[in-house]
Order: sequence, then C-alpha cells, then structure tokens
Amino acid sequence: MKGIILAGGLGTRLAPLTNITNKHLLPVWDKPMIYYPIGCLVNAGITDIMIVTGGNYAGDFLRLLRNGEDFGLKRLNYAYQKGEGGIADALRLCEGFADGDSVCVVLGDNIIETNINRAVSDFGKQDRGAKIILKEVPDPERFGVAEFSGGRVIGIEEKPKAPKSKHAVIGIYMYDARVFDIIRTLKPSGRGELEITDVNNAYIKDGSMTCEVLEGWWTDAGTFESLHRATCLVKEGGANRVT
Ligand code: G1P
Repeated sequence: MKGIILAGGLGTRLAPLTNITNKHLLPVWDKPMIYYPIGCLVNAGITDIMIVTGGNYAGDFLRLLRNGEDFGLKRLNYAYQKGEGGIADALRLCEGFADGDSVCVVLGDNIIETNINRAVSDFGKQDRGAKIILKEVPDPERFGVAEFSGGRVIGIEEKPKAPKSKHAVIGIYMYDARVFDIIRTLKPSGRGELEITDVNNAYIKDGSMTCEVLEGWWTDAGTFESLHRATCLVKEGGANRVT
C-alpha cells in the first residue's frame, strides 16, 4: 500500500500566518504540522509516500523534509497541485505514483493520538473497495458526517447544517486503485472543488465501503481554534508520530 499526504491549499482560514508559509509547515507544539501525518503512515508500516502540496511555499517542504531521513525513510515523492481544486483533485495527481496499488490518504492537517494499524491491516483483508475512519465529535457540522441505517453507513454529507449523526469522517482514507476512475467521474461541488466526500459516497453506493471508529483523540488544525487545540493535545497527551 502506498501513502499519500495532501498538503496543498492556501490555508486562508489561518491568514496572516499562511501569508508567509504553507499551513502544513506551521508548528503544532514542537514539530511542523506535516510531521504528524508522515509519522502516522510510517508507524503503520507505509513507507512509500507522496506529498502533494501547492501554493507559493512548496519548495520549503523539500528544504524541511529532504528525503525523509528524520522518519527513517530513504526517499520521499512530491507532487505540485496548481490552484485550489480540492482534496480529490490533489489525489488525482497521484495516479502514476500509485501505479495500480491501493492507497492510504492522509490530510496534512489531521493529527491522531493513537494509530491506524488495525484499520490498515483490516483494509488489507478486503479484496476491493475503501475504508473510512469515523470519530464522534461535538461539532460535526464542520466535517463530512456519516449517516447510519441499521448500524451501516448509508451516506456522507459534507459540512451539513443539520448533521444526521455526530460521527465525523476523519481525514484518513483507504482506497483501492479504482479511486482514480471514480475521481474522473466527479463534478465540482458548490465550493468549486472535487470533494473527497463524493468519492466516499461512490464507494458506499457500490457497497464496497467499510468503516472503523478511531480510538483516542483526533483533531484537524486548519483554524486558529483547532490549531491551538492540536498543540495542547500533542503537548499534554502525546501524538502518533515518529520524531
Ligand atoms: C475535509 C473533508 C471533510 C473531512 C475533513 C477532515 O474538510 O472535506 O469531509 O471531515 O477534511 O479534516 P476541510 O479540510 O475541507 O474542512
């Protein structure tokens, strides 16, 4: 399985900090934000990793991460996303890198306390399809939210005004190689982006999506509130990271 970290976007919700750097290079406690998703993949045994970034500071990723030595890696792969096409648009750029393998995609601003080892190993036993990871949160309207029927996820709504559950879809996704065909069928959403939620709904419709609930805390770090929370959680509780 290949690992993909999506670290593009302009991070406008964190301006003016992001006027001078990429959001994923900002500090979360004592490390740049991007260290956490890399650690999450490496700790799950996924060492063939591509980082997709964009904007004006893409070169800083190379200066910071080089070939991934800090994580015990021999090399890292990089791709550049032009514009603000959304998460699924960034993932599209990784088709050649995936080269027919399944992929584990981590959003560069997602940080977890524990690990994804069980989810990765369960997904490995699935012969096709996808897996998402859910976490109960007090503010589901900020995220993709799962809708359940009879204990099964029957759909996901992106940032719904009236969420049908408290289970957010966290930014760690596992897909078989069909994901790139699915992305080709997507149309931009109201916010002009190719939505990862539309990819996930395609797998749900196909009957090949599984899900697990994450243990331990999870946070994104794309707003001042969540960036502060991430720093406090990492400082007090420790996070899933390598260095
Ligand atoms: C994105 C996804 C959303 C998911 C979230 C996790 O939201 O669109 O479904 O729950 O990441 O962090 P965004 O980064 O656009 O707020």
